[in-house]
This record gives sequence, C-alpha cells and structure tokens, in this order.
Amino acid sequence: MKRSFKVFSVMFVTAAFAFMSVTANAQQKKGEPWVIPAEYKKMANPVASDDASVKAGQVAFARNCASCHGKTGLGDGPKGRMLKTFPGDFSGAAFQAYTSGEMFYQTKFGRGEMPAYDKKIPDTEIWNMVNYMKTLAN
Ligand code: HEC
Repeated sequence: MKRSFKVFSVMFVTAAFAFMSVTANAQQKKGEPWVIPAEYKKMANPVASDDASVKAGQVAFARNCASCHGKTGLGDGPKGRMLKTFPGDFSGAAFQAYTSGEMFYQTKFGRGEMPAYDKKIPDTEIWNMVNYMKTLAN
C-alpha cells in the first residue's frame, strides 16, 4: 500500500469517527422530567459537604459515572455519547436546581439508560457523589 494512501485512510477513518460522535450526540433525546417521590425530594444529605466528602465523591464519580457523564458531568463521556438519551449537563442551572435528595434518588434508582446503583454503591458513597455533583455548577 502506498504511504499517501495509508495516511489518507487514517485521516478518513478519523474524520468518519469524529462525524459519527457529533451526529450521535445531535440525535440524542432529552430525558422527560423525573417523577421523584416527595420523601426523596426533601431528604437532607446526611453527609456534610466538606473537602473529604467531595474528594471521595469525585473519585467514585470518575470510577462509576464518568464513562457516560464525562469527567466533569457535561454528558460527554465516550459511552454517554453513544446512548439514545442525553445523560444531562451537570454544570447547568436546570441540573443544579435539583435538591440533594433528588440527585440521590436519580443515582440510587436510575431509569432507562441510567443504571440503578442501589445494589452496587452504599448510600454514604452516593451522598459523597451528590456533594461532588453540586460542585460542578459553572
Ligand atoms: C451507562 C451510562 C451511565 C452511567 C454509567 C451513569 N449514568 Fe447517570 N444517566 C445516564 C443517562 C442516559 C441519564 C438520563 C436518563 C433519563 O433522563 O432518562 C442519566 C441521568 C442521571 C442523573 C439525572 C440527570 C438529569 O439532568 O436529570 C443523575 C443525577 C445521574 N445520572 C447520576 C449518575 C451517577 C452519580 C452515576 C455513577 C454512580 C451515573 N449517573 C452513571 C447514563 C449513565
């Protein structure tokens, strides 16, 4: 194979993938509003949002959530971009308007393409992640 052809093929494949990830993103649907039981909405976070909790939440988020939600919660993780439903923009006002209890509920029980973590991650760790997600406002 000629070298110039090889270079061309690599460029073509790269461009095709870039195009696919952009279009996959553009075709994602936005999730419907969540229906969250009142007891969760007003549930207080039992874990104080100090440095240790936010740091622990960040580590747990990077391990369990970033593949879909992206490292900083923009919804741009490599796996997240391929989903039918947009994982959400955690830096935006709409997301930050959720109460801690609502974020806890969403993480614990999931829905659709958002996995449930009630059997995988202890509540305290979920609250750490809630504390971390609350720091992602822009
Ligand atoms: C397999 C991909 C995937 C993983 C892994 C994942 N999520 Fe999600 N998440 C989603 C999708 C998709 C949605 C949107 C679901 C919907 O609206 O129906 C979502 C929604 C959410 C929401 C609500 C967002 C909003 O704006 O309404 C929160 C909070 C959330 N995820 C937290 C987490 C946390 C914390 C983790 C890790 C413990 C996690 N997610 C792991 C895909 C994922």
